[in-house]
Amino acid sequence: MEFINQIKERAKTLQNKIVLPEGTDLRTLKAVEQVIADNLAQIILLGDPIEIKVLALKEGINITGAEIINPKTSPKREQYAALMVEIRKDKGLTTSEALDALNNPLVFGSLMVKAKDADGEIAGAINSTGDVLRPALQYIKTVPGVSVVSGVFFMVFKDKSIGDNGILVFADCAVMPDPTDRQLAEIAVSTAKTAESIAHLSPRVAMLSFSTKGSAKHPLVDKMTSATRIAKELDPELIIDGELQLDAALIESVGLSKAPGSTVAGKANILIFPGLESANIGYKLVQRLAGAEAIGPILQGMAAPINDLSRGCSVADIVNLVAITATQAG
Ligand code: ACO
Repeated sequence: MEFINQIKERAKTLQNKIVLPEGTDLRTLKAVEQVIADNLAQIILLGDPIEIKVLALKEGINITGAEIINPKTSPKREQYAALMVEIRKDKGLTTSEALDALNNPLVFGSLMVKAKDADGEIAGAINSTGDVLRPALQYIKTVPGVSVVSGVFFMVFKDKSIGDNGILVFADCAVMPDPTDRQLAEIAVSTAKTAESIAHLSPRVAMLSFSTKGSAKHPLVDKMTSATRIAKELDPELIIDGELQLDAALIESVGLSKAPGSTVAGKANILIFPGLESANIGYKLVQRLAGAEAIGPILQGMAAPINDLSRGCSVADIVNLVAITATQAG
């Protein structure tokens, strides 16, 4: 709670403009009412303004203060289409295809961010992760020097002895199904930066495996040791170690016995999982069985902040992600 409240306080001072393409989703409208009441960000909703206003009125939701833009009639369509054609000229995208694609609020929202008409975007309450991410990956693209977009969860525990004051950071729980060693290295470096910028953590990164320091021999183990080496090359200052089993990464006594001398073993605050399967299952296990609050996924590596909601999200989840996205926009 304390963690998200600090983020909300930062968001209030920034007053960034966040676009929400799912303008007819009720949870989104309720979240917008809350965001405006709490003064967390400026809001742009996408969709037919009459449809959105009638729905809000019918449900007793006050969205006064939110700007509503219809992607199908916006005067920005030509400008955005030209930008799309320029970005995807090597793919042969035509103006008429671009104009057609802009009828999709998820594409229009990404173009708003690309054109700097919005500082960040959140969707996913009624759309799949793939549909939210694809236009962002195609038009906003990655930060220079980073080739991979990935997603982190801040796992917040009631027990403050876990991680750093009750916080552990997990990645990549959201995007890359089967990352290479190089991609895992980039994910590790990006996650350390995200942990520093959002939660002011001093990163200690564990590259997880089913083996600790060669206890097992397998190509999957080699991938994590190789990823660790590449991450050190990418960021020589980064405190990182691997491959480590989860208990060696988190439990001091196990870390001391399995990886003596490690700067990370037993005290990791960032866990990089070997793939999306283990990461996605892992964060849900910790959330559901250990009762940790899972804040995210927060996407990193994208040139501007775009975040994806779960379709099972609550109004509070959307409000929290608006605050996080506004903070990422800086
Ligand atoms: N980082 C940077 N760029 C990427 C990435 C990435 N991680 N993945 C794809 N791209 C780029 C591609 O290079 C391509 O660019 P181009 O069109 O300019 O050539 C573009 O994005 C589209 O890529 P495709 O591979 O064609 O798109 P696809 O839709 O197949 O895959 C996606 C991308 C949607 C992210 C896919 O990897 C995916 O579905 N991942 C899993 C998402 C998911 O379901 N997560 C679990 C649920 S989330 C949760 O539970 C919290």
